[in-house]
Amino acid sequence: MDLTTMKKAKDHVGELVKIGVWVTNRRSSGKIAFLQLRDGVFYFQGVLLKSEVGEDLFEELKNIPQETALIVEGTVQKNDRSPIGVELLIKSAEVLGGSHDYPITPKDHGIDFLMDHRHLWLRSHKQHAVLQIRNEIIKATYDFFYDNGFIKIDPPILTGSAPEGTSELFHTEYFDQDAYLSQSGQLYMEAAAMAFGKVFSFGPTFRAEKSKTRRHLIEFWMIEPEMAFTNQDQSIKVQEEYIAYLVEAVLEHCQPALAILERDQELLKTYTQLPYPRISYDDAITLLKDNGFDDIEWGDDFGSPHETFIANHFSKPVFIMNYPKAIKPFYMKAAPNRDDVYLCADLIAPEGYGEIIGGSERETDFDQLLANIKAKGLSVEEYGWYLDLRKYGSVPHSGFGLGLERMVTWLSGTEHVREAIPFPRLLHRLYP
Ligand code: 4AD
Ligand code: MG
Repeated sequence: MDLTTMKKAKDHVGELVKIGVWVTNRRSSGKIAFLQLRDGVFYFQGVLLKSEVGEDLFEELKNIPQETALIVEGTVQKNDRSPIGVELLIKSAEVLGGSHDYPITPKDHGIDFLMDHRHLWLRSHKQHAVLQIRNEIIKATYDFFYDNGFIKIDPPILTGSAPEGTSELFHTEYFDQDAYLSQSGQLYMEAAAMAFGKVFSFGPTFRAEKSKTRRHLIEFWMIEPEMAFTNQDQSIKVQEEYIAYLVEAVLEHCQPALAILERDQELLKTYTQLPYPRISYDDAITLLKDNGFDDIEWGDDFGSPHETFIANHFSKPVFIMNYPKAIKPFYMKAAPNRDDVYLCADLIAPEGYGEIIGGSERETDFDQLLANIKAKGLSVEEYGWYLDLRKYGSVPHSGFGLGLERMVTWLSGTEHVREAIPFPRLLHRLYP
């Protein structure tokens, strides 16, 4: 089929083009009908004049069911009211795939209904826009790390280790052994950093969390950079540059999507200004207490109201630094002159979007790491290979993990992380 798209055709006003489309909506009055069309990339209007297409085709098309697939031929013409600046004056059309009783209509549907029809909901304008932003973040991630001398390393999905704690593991059988779906590739990325210097991974991770919040997925995608000869301060600089780069890329390349989502672009621009503010965990607790939060004590992890308050206080992404040891994983390095906190930071997004990055400097001392592993009740045998990294040329190194869907949710201004991934895996949702 020799078809074009409106993206290519829009600069050819006056020319006759042939495009494969689906009908998203239509209305007519008398001798004129308007079809709302999408070709997979753009959403645009097709204009149908009875005088152009003849009585029969006009009658067929003016009531054509939603999501019918068509091949339309027509002339590209200017329309200043269209977001893409053009529309198609249809000359002829042929039905390629019929459609009947399409379940998602322009009326309001509840979220459960939409989630049950996720395979179709993807076609709708807003969902399409959110996933365009996701795609841009993916592309910009590769650009950023390749431009900065990182190499991509793929850690395994089936593992025997549990870097982020054993309570949230997906268990599976690996022939006659126990195995888990990876909850983070970090430990493998540390091995890779000792082989390649600066590395990043980008892949699916799994958390059997019984959380039903707007920030939690069971399966989500994580970007995990790891850098040899890099301390926590230097890692934080990479983190903020990376985030600012992603915001810039989305502002530059996702104009139509941001407009559909009615995202405040002036606000987004403020997030490209570096550096981001930093606050210690200790000071964050004091800040909360001074502002009337009496439900949190030093040593507690933050809940989302706490994170939201802190982020709103700065109205920028903010690093909360040096958390208590008891609430963070075993692999982190102790802060100098403090035996109660780690050299780590979480980056909290503004506007209530919560933690988007978790990162730290890694413990490099063999004995300390061994003690940490034992203290967490983890198997020293399982982590033998990880301990090896501290035996042969151990160097200071740091890294972090960015949750892709949290980033997409924030930049697109979407309420819930479930819309930031094509087919979300949620508590009680494995369909479709
Ligand atoms: O803070 P987390 O658990 O950190 C790690 O896994 C480290 N090993 C990363 C590293 O240093 N290499 O997860 C990192 C990020 C979080 O900040 C959040 O953005 C995202 O992953 N994340 C989730 N996103 C969606 N649903 C969930 N259930 C998530 N859990 C974490
Ligand atoms: Mg975290």
